[in-house]
Amino acid sequence: MIKILFVCLGNICRSPTAEGVFRYKLNKAGIRDGYLENIFIDSAGTGAYHVGGKPDSRSQEIALKYGVNLDDLRARKVTRQDFLDFNYILAMDRENVRNLTTICPPDQQHKIKLFMEYAEKCPGITEVPDPYGSGADEFERVYDIIDRGCSGFLKYLYMHDHL
Ligand code: 4NP
Repeated sequence: MIKILFVCLGNICRSPTAEGVFRYKLNKAGIRDGYLENIFIDSAGTGAYHVGGKPDSRSQEIALKYGVNLDDLRARKVTRQDFLDFNYILAMDRENVRNLTTICPPDQQHKIKLFMEYAEKCPGITEVPDPYGSGADEFERVYDIIDRGCSGFLKYLYMHDHL
């Protein structure tokens, strides 16, 4: 089984969107995910501000427009166990990478990657910007960036025989 964790700061905007979009793309490709399947995906935040909370209503609204329902997701904080459990820990921005790096055991550091490293058709965009303090337009832009990141990562998994 391959396990993938999407990480941002609050786990209410970017990483739950990435989890939902990635799950949608997997399911559309006929691949189920979960504890009893070949692939397990989850998301978490480096901060604890919103633990237990639903994804931001602005993220939910845009995702739903594209058929992706985030309503069942709940925010949680990254744990040390995550570094042992997951194969890929995909950070939305460099600050997330830094925060992850400081709490990750030395022998698991290779699992931490910038999510946008795998993106397609996104020249020059190496991070998913934090939309929390911005307006609806920025949430739209962030959704599009995440969508491209998810497509690229899905292709990467196929190319590396993970799926
Ligand atoms: P996220 O966005 O990291 O994409 O979930 C944020 C959500 C909340 C906060 C910051 C970023 N906050 O400071 O509460």
